[in-house]
Amino acid sequence: MTNPIAFFIFGGTGDLARRKLYPVLSKLLKEGKLKELKAVYALGRSEEKIRDYITRFGDNLLKVFRFLPLDVSKKENYRKLAREIESLPDTELIFYLALPPQLFEQAILNLGSTLRRFSNPRKIVVEKPFGFDLESAKRLNFQLKRYFTEKEIYRIDHFLGKAPIQNILSVRFSNYIFEGIWNKNFIDNIQISALEEIGLEGRASYYDRVGALRDMVQNHLLQILSFIAMEPPALMDPERVRDEKVKVLSSIRRFSVSEVDRYAVRGRYRGYIEELGRESRTETFVALKLFIDNFRWEGVPFYLRTGKRLKEKITQVVVVFKEVPGNFGRILGCMPASNKFLFEIAPGSRVRFFFEMAPPEGFLACPVERSMEIDLSPNLPEAYETLIEDIVKGDQTLFIREDESELAWEIVQPILERWAQEDSIPEYEPGSYGPKEADKLIESDGRRWILL
Ligand code: BG6
Repeated sequence: MTNPIAFFIFGGTGDLARRKLYPVLSKLLKEGKLKELKAVYALGRSEEKIRDYITRFGDNLLKVFRFLPLDVSKKENYRKLAREIESLPDTELIFYLALPPQLFEQAILNLGSTLRRFSNPRKIVVEKPFGFDLESAKRLNFQLKRYFTEKEIYRIDHFLGKAPIQNILSVRFSNYIFEGIWNKNFIDNIQISALEEIGLEGRASYYDRVGALRDMVQNHLLQILSFIAMEPPALMDPERVRDEKVKVLSSIRRFSVSEVDRYAVRGRYRGYIEELGRESRTETFVALKLFIDNFRWEGVPFYLRTGKRLKEKITQVVVVFKEVPGNFGRILGCMPASNKFLFEIAPGSRVRFFFEMAPPEGFLACPVERSMEIDLSPNLPEAYETLIEDIVKGDQTLFIREDESELAWEIVQPILERWAQEDSIPEYEPGSYGPKEADKLIESDGRRWILL
């Protein structure tokens, strides 16, 4: 017998709740996938048309929807929450912190002390960004662990809810053919790009405080990297999978603050300051070169880049294999292009393998590049759909464990410190692929950025 469930959404009138959480809860309810869900509480300062908004989803959600006025920072407000919890004996309580990050700690503290006298099963879901730097992430973990066990904590990274990202693990570990070539002997470099066309889009106050490194690299890009680079887990079990990701993050070569410029480049699109209406030292673009110092990956560069206001929205991983030996190129009169394996996450969801074939003129002429493609869409679930179902089921495989969250900060920490020392940020044209410094970062290694 499973317990009934009540969701409490802190930031229940906010942007994330409206754009993602309510639509997904409503869809899951309609599909009969959340039979245990008895109540969804929106916690917020004022009811602000939220009920009208919920009405648009129809009866399923409306029937279980309640509004609870609460200012997260006011301790006395939590009495109302406690009264509500009293009316929910034996109910599993899921607290979802969809709040501006500066309110996380207060919410955890107040919520934690409110929950002390209750014995209901509980879970807490914490949205990104998880902290602002290594120290604040540690503090956040410390606060969480005062009131919740690790099994009750779900640190969200919505990229892990994306089916084409989960597919990286399936492709790697459900096929025999990849394991033997997935290493430094066959792979020349790996490129992870998350390019966006959008700019601030009404999130200026959040984004300007955070910047591209914290917003995208510390979490999403390092998570993709972990999936691409990890060893096969002993079991497809939440702890074993996360153990392997932790091993990858621990093996990423650390660099000191004085070495950062050799590995990291930032940029800001022209017009950012005008759009923001004030001075700023925030980057809207990052390119990085990382190395994983273990037996599998030693010497293979992982190039990561992300930015706003770029030419197109593309999220993809390109695995670039080594070139064939040069003497073979001499026979053909040209160098065959390297094989490439593409995991496309956006705009499409597909995998594609690029290889060289004999041209119509015959096999002794320059080969041509051909590809084989498998389209994973349509009908893939939305990232939040998968993640909310997993939270309800209690499956933590796709959530960030405490050690992972801190290791990921450890990797970006010297970059944060280096960039805090200097005001000047290279600019790039909106609609481009970022600053020329990012091209130099990879070109000085004799390589170039590849988009497929
Ligand atoms: C979010 C970032 O986590 O991810 C945003 O805060 C970014 O700045 C977004 O736009 C990108 O996610 P997606 O799913 O649209 O690729």
